[in-house]
Amino acid sequence: MENKKFYITTPIYYPSGKFHIGTAYATTLADCIKRYKALKGYDTYFLTGLDEHGQKIQTVAEKRGLAPQDHVDEMAEACQKLWKQMDISYDDFIRTTEERHEKAVDKIVEKFLANNDIYKGEYEGWYCMPCENYFTETQLMDGKCPDCGREVKLMKEESYFFNMKKYQDWLLQFYEENPDFIVPESRKNEIFNNFLKPGLEDLCISRTTFDWGIKMKNDPKHVLYVWVDALTNYITALGYASNDDALFQKYWPADLHIVGKEIIRFHGIYWPIFLKALGLEMPKKIYAHSWLVMKDGKMSKSKGNVIYPETLIERYGLDSLKYYLLRTMQFATDSIFTPEDFVDRYNFDLCNDLGNLLNRTIGMINKYFAGSVPTEISQKNAVDDELEEFTIQEMNEFEKNMEQFFISNALSNVWKIISRTNKYIDETAPWVLAKEENKAKLESCMFHLVETLRKIAILLKPFMPETAEKMFLQLGIKSENLKTWDSLKSYDNLPKDIQVAEKGEALFMRKDRQEEIEYIQDIMKK
Ligand code: ME8
Ligand code: MG
Repeated sequence: MENKKFYITTPIYYPSGKFHIGTAYATTLADCIKRYKALKGYDTYFLTGLDEHGQKIQTVAEKRGLAPQDHVDEMAEACQKLWKQMDISYDDFIRTTEERHEKAVDKIVEKFLANNDIYKGEYEGWYCMPCENYFTETQLMDGKCPDCGREVKLMKEESYFFNMKKYQDWLLQFYEENPDFIVPESRKNEIFNNFLKPGLEDLCISRTTFDWGIKMKNDPKHVLYVWVDALTNYITALGYASNDDALFQKYWPADLHIVGKEIIRFHGIYWPIFLKALGLEMPKKIYAHSWLVMKDGKMSKSKGNVIYPETLIERYGLDSLKYYLLRTMQFATDSIFTPEDFVDRYNFDLCNDLGNLLNRTIGMINKYFAGSVPTEISQKNAVDDELEEFTIQEMNEFEKNMEQFFISNALSNVWKIISRTNKYIDETAPWVLAKEENKAKLESCMFHLVETLRKIAILLKPFMPETAEKMFLQLGIKSENLKTWDSLKSYDNLPKDIQVAEKGEALFMRKDRQEEIEYIQDIMKK
């Protein structure tokens, strides 16, 4: 029997500042895939959270005049508030400062030590005194600290290392046997050619220069340095190495880790090796997504090009933001946010194409059939079959695209159905059928419109759950059985007693292009 569980994770974010729409993209993407799998009947589990330790967080907290714990507590609250506002359907939110995580990490380090995977050595790097941070030669900017621009000194300190070399051959073999472990392929090739083939370096996993982290029990002047602490969240959240590991037993291995392309090395090399060292199963897949950037490069406060999700949600509604992100972001290449693109997608795709289709349909059923959806079809229009076939074909393509995480392409499949259905209205000209009193054909036309819109709403559930519900409500679709993946399959399952809303309500309000472009340009500067 097929295993029907689906465990999906996002990266755990650094709580160093307010989240912009780029950060929100990874969570929106994971939420969409989770909802899609749930729609298909999987028992899903969705984990997100925060990576709260480390030098960087300690420094941010100090700048704010706060104790690190107070800073991360505040950030965790803000983050959860944002995900709530964005209707992110996570099942658990892990914070690496939680006792459940720290205790399990202690056990993991104990195992590594017992297994001789960790040894004490010396770390050498370029150290910036004021920033209390090490940099590698390549990270330096003109030989100076990349963060503050001051002089750096070559320094050595005692550190623990993880013996990566020991697992090198195993990992090479693993990649040979699992060529699709990382998608897109370009990302896999990157780490394969740049890191794995040339030979792995052992990884420094502890520091003595700061103390905001998990102390090593065996040698407490050392705190764990990022990756052992961070990556293990994916298993500690499930109760691994705790008194209750029922979730771990049920959901591990992860079916999908969603990560940004900049951290693929850690997920594609160190994470599998940590798991192997613990004797655990490998995750099924890692999707290293690309970035959302601005015309002038990465989003940053100093450039004055940052957009926060709250501002867009307030003005355009949550689903407009979700739609924009999921439609614009491409599978393997970075995408550029522009106000023009955002406004055009809003006006054309959402207001015109989708909104008008629903509105016209609700209006006509009220006008011609007093709101009652005809379900007994005695005579078809010439293009009825064509609409049915086209819809079914695009639904199949939709599924293929979703299975490969071609999210934007899957949305285009839905929009092709929407456009085809708008064209169907023009082709069948229901106003002419009404004038000619061709009741049978008019019935078939209205039925086909409602039935196709019902399918569109189901397909949109993973992307825009709120809009999908609004559509069901206006269409008079109440039964949960009519909102399922299985109910997409045929064109003959509408019950007799469906009554559409008396007055259609616009899903999205059309806005003035120039005004909105200026509005978005303004908020970017704030
Ligand atoms: O790296 N476009 O956290 P982080 C798309 N704590 N995605 C973006 C983005 C953008 N412009 N900016 C951020 C860390 N992201 C570690 C991870 S995991 C065990 C530890 C997303 O806060 C992207 O998914 O710097 C990135 O990987 C993630 O935010 C985390 O960024
Ligand atoms: Mg980062």
